[in-house]
Amino acid sequence: HPLYVITPTYRRPEQLAELTRMAQTLLLVRNVQWLVIEDAKVPSKHVEQLLKRSGLLYQHLTAAMPEQYRKRRGAKPKGVAQRNRGLQWLRANASVGVFYFADDDNTYDVAIFDEIRSTKRVSMFPVGLCTKFGLSTPVVSSTGAFMGFYDGWLGGRKFPVDMAGFAVSVKFLHMRPKAIMPYVPGFEEDGFLRSLAPLEPKEIELKADNCTKVLVWHTQAKANAPSPPLDMVKYNQTNLAVLKT
Ligand code: UGA
Ligand code: MN
Repeated sequence: HPLYVITPTYRRPEQLAELTRMAQTLLLVRNVQWLVIEDAKVPSKHVEQLLKRSGLLYQHLTAAMPEQYRKRRGAKPKGVAQRNRGLQWLRANASVGVFYFADDDNTYDVAIFDEIRSTKRVSMFPVGLCTKFGLSTPVVSSTGAFMGFYDGWLGGRKFPVDMAGFAVSVKFLHMRPKAIMPYVPGFEEDGFLRSLAPLEPKEIELKADNCTKVLVWHTQAKANAPSPPLDMVKYNQTNLAVLKT
């Protein structure tokens, strides 16, 4: 059965670098479809070119963050419109398989994709470099029983997990026709997982050797340089100041 990787993305200097890294990770994964969903009204040519050139099986979609949230000061519900667009696509186009919300800037060990492939309903696993504790994970006893969650910010959440820390089967999504991600910063994961009710933490399938292995990291690129010209052909190279040697 296919694996559906739902990736929100948006225009910024690091975008093509992040998507290149992720595309080349996914090239090592069998039977995967990449749903790349831009925070934009129209798809961008450069993302389309990257996807086409990757050789991956992909869907290039768009879903812009609604104006009311974009204009808001402080934390914004990043990627929510796109993930809900991804869910809408799955409901219309997929009947089996597993989906995973994979942000474009995280780092994925290819082993995570084989781990989540067997998800019956909802699975969870550790995410490294996440919150002030450096790790977000279900806590599992030596006998393999779910004990609770470890996360640097609990926030009264029923499921205090990172976006990259869970996967869901498409069949289960079809059994929960109202499941949706809310536009609430910090509570996107919890809100979505709660919308899969009835679902209890103790029913979660524990992956990555009973949550003893970190196979995904919540990396964040340091924004330290502007973007190179997006179209290097059109770019007039003589505009570059030449370094005299
Ligand atoms: C934080 C949380 O740690 C994640 O668990 C959660 O997925 C994310 O916020 C979120 O709110 O969705 P953080 O690294 O701060 O993660 O978020 P970003 O990586 O900047 O953004 C999350 C995703 O949304 C990325 O794929 C990014 O490309 C996309 N995004 C971000 C947009 O589409 N539009 C934006 O304006 C910002
Ligand atoms: Mn991120």
